[in-house]
Amino acid sequence: MLPSGALNLRELEELAREKLSPMAYAYYASGALEEVTLRENVAAWARLPLHYRVLVDVSERDLSTTVLGAPVSMPILVAPTAFHKLACEAGELATARAAAAEGTVMCLSSLSNTRVEDVCAATAGPAAGRPPVWFQLYVYRDRAATAALVARAEAAGAGAIVLTVDAPVLGRRERDVRNEFHLPDGLRVENMSAVSDLGDVSLRSSASSLAAYFAEKLDPSLSWKDVAWLRSVTRLPVAVKGIVRPDDARRAVDHGAAAVIVSNHGGRQLDGSPATATVLGPIADAVRGRIEVLVDGGVRRGADVLRALSLGARAVLIGRPILWGLATGGEDGARAVLSTFRFELDQAMTLAGCPSVVDATRDLVG
Ligand code: FNR
Ligand code: LAC
Repeated sequence: MLPSGALNLRELEELAREKLSPMAYAYYASGALEEVTLRENVAAWARLPLHYRVLVDVSERDLSTTVLGAPVSMPILVAPTAFHKLACEAGELATARAAAAEGTVMCLSSLSNTRVEDVCAATAGPAAGRPPVWFQLYVYRDRAATAALVARAEAAGAGAIVLTVDAPVLGRRERDVRNEFHLPDGLRVENMSAVSDLGDVSLRSSASSLAAYFAEKLDPSLSWKDVAWLRSVTRLPVAVKGIVRPDDARRAVDHGAAAVIVSNHGGRQLDGSPATATVLGPIADAVRGRIEVLVDGGVRRGADVLRALSLGARAVLIGRPILWGLATGGEDGARAVLSTFRFELDQAMTLAGCPSVVDATRDLVG
């Protein structure tokens, strides 16, 4: 059951809006500029009809699968989102525990309010028979500090590095500009708080302090050769996140990525970029099973997960709904969001004649 009797994620977002500070709510909810891509991400899934099969024995269903070799109870992962302590006191520890309890992977943002060591320790990961935490990487201009961060994530037990490639600068989110978004006193980028001023996103700008942080600290020269650099500093599999084109997906394969994540950053970067539902199929075709394809953006119902699997995704990642769960119910709230997705996916699979995830074939979406 979702917190406060919400029936679905739209209702939960309304409850979260009441709990969060206006600055935090706007940061979580907003997209870039006109927010066209933000809206289209959701709408495009809903436009894909599901050509259900009948008279299939669906008395038992199995939602389990693997992602990068790790068994998960369902093809629904937690996307990396920054600053969970804006939503609840336990922050990323709550999220990690919720994901572990539901038998799935949490991808921790570089920009977390909790250190990667503490997040990995909170779930114990594969050593405790649970899925690993993955670590999302933003590459700093300071490459030594970046490599040190990757080494820490690996030493902490992270199962993969997710390299985000769609943010050479932060997209302009006008709600954040208006609110002069910054972290409240006491909250920092904990992973970097030991490195001079790399932990600091307090008020530094009359616009978004996070946009200023990106412009100053992160490396806009990042290019394909840096995927090789990243692979040279870690033994972990590298997933490239933020792909919307088949040719870029092929480049990721050529550069040794273990997975691509089809994503436009939840409509927060280039406004006008295509809804992920519209580019997933062509990207899966281009990759042709050589590496895993994951997708995020606007997944709000179990049926959207089924659509994504049918178009060739191994799994989906969920961004904002997890934040609404944290804001309204902390760890239990995040867990309830995941179990609501599980319930809805199970029902969609039942009604579509798909007893297991491998039955979600392309013909299901026409
Ligand atoms: C994000 N996203 C993101 N991505 C990333 O690689 N590193 C990050 O730190 C963040 N931070 C972040 C904060 C917030 C508040 C949001 C909403 C999103 C993008 C995220 O991983 C994912 O791509 C989208 O959120 C998916 O879309 P939905 O599910 O939110 O529609
Ligand atoms: C964002 C960054 C942190 O979307 O990825 O706000």
